Amino acid sequence: MAEHDYPEHLREMVEDYLDALDFSSPLPDDQADAAGTEGLVEAMRYSLLAGGKRIRPVLALATCESLGEPPQRLLPTAAAIELVHTYSLIHDDLPAMDDDDLRRGRPTCHRLYGDDTAILAGDALYAEAVRLISERQEGGPAVVVGILSELSRATGVNGMVGGQFLDLRDAGHAGTDALRRVHALKTGRLMACAVHCGLVLAPPAEQVDAAYRAFARELGLLFQIVDDILDVAGSEADLGKPVGADERMGKVTYVSLHGLGRARAMATQTHARARELLHAVPGPVDDLVALTDLVFARHS
Ligand code: IPE
Ligand code: IPE
Ligand code: MG
Ligand code: MG
Ligand code: MG
Repeated sequence: MAEHDYPEHLREMVEDYLDALDFSSPLPDDQADAAGTEGLVEAMRYSLLAGGKRIRPVLALATCESLGEPPQRLLPTAAAIELVHTYSLIHDDLPAMDDDDLRRGRPTCHRLYGDDTAILAGDALYAEAVRLISERQEGGPAVVVGILSELSRATGVNGMVGGQFLDLRDAGHAGTDALRRVHALKTGRLMACAVHCGLVLAPPAEQVDAAYRAFARELGLLFQIVDDILDVAGSEADLGKPVGADERMGKVTYVSLHGLGRARAMATQTHARARELLHAVPGPVDDLVALTDLVFARHS
C-alpha cells in the first residue's frame, strides 16, 4: 500500500463539532438550569479543546467512510469517544494517579482548576458523551443502544478503567503477558471502540467484520507501544506532556520490559500486522492506512 496523507478533513470535522458543543444547554422542556456551572464547563472545554491529535474520532470517521457511509453519520459518536478519552486523560493526570503537570502542551486540568473541579470535569465529560450519543446519533434505537453498549464496555471494568486500575496496582510487577493485557485494556479498548461503533452503524459481512476487529486490536496495541517509546525517546515540546513519567512512577512499559530496541521492533511488527489486516477490508481504506502510519511514526 502506498503512502497517504493524514485525513485532515476528518480531523477538522471533529474539531469544529467539538468546539460547537454546548454542554449547558437545557432541553426545551427541562426545568433545570445550569446557572453557576460555568467554571465546570470552562474546565471541560479547556481540556477538550487543547489540541489533541483526535486519533480516536478520526478512526471512527475513517472506519465509517471505509464501510461506504458518509463519515458525518458517525460524528456524534466520534465526538463522544473523544469526550471519554479527554475524561480519561484528566483523571490519569491527577496527583492520585500519574501526577502530571503538563498535558496537550498546557498545565493539566487539575493544576489550573484544582483536583475537585478536574474530577468533576472528567465525570461530566463521560455523562455528556452518553447524552451526545443518545440524543444525536442517527441510525435508530438499535444502533444507538449498540453504540452505547460498545462505549460503556470499552470504558468499564473490562476496558479503560479496569486497565487504569491494573496499570496503577501492578506498577513494577507485570510480566510480558500481563503488560499486553494492561495495554489492551487501558488504551486498546477505547481505540478499538472507535472501529466497533462504525461496525454497529454499517455492519459488513462476517469475515470483513473480523478483519476490522483484528485491525482495531493491533492498532490499539501499536498506539500504546509507541506511547511507551515516546515517554523515553520523545521530547516534551513535541508531546506536550512530560517525558520520563513512566520511569518516575515505576511503571512497567514495553521499554522497561523489553528495552528500547526491542520495543521499537515490536512496534514495527505490530504496524505491519495492522496494515496487512487492512488488505482484507474491501472499502476505501486510504484514510485508515494513513492513520495507522501516523500512529506508528508519530512524535507527538
Ligand atoms: C494519550 O493519548 C493517552 C494514552 C492513551 C496513551 P493521545 O496520544 O491520543 O493523546 P491526545 O489526545 O493526542 O492528547
Ligand atoms: C493513559 O496511559 C491511558 C489512559 C488515559 C486511559 P498513560 O498514563 O501512559 O498516558 P500518558 O502517557 O499520561 O498520556
Ligand atoms: Mg497512566
Ligand atoms: Mg499518564
Ligand atoms: Mg504514557
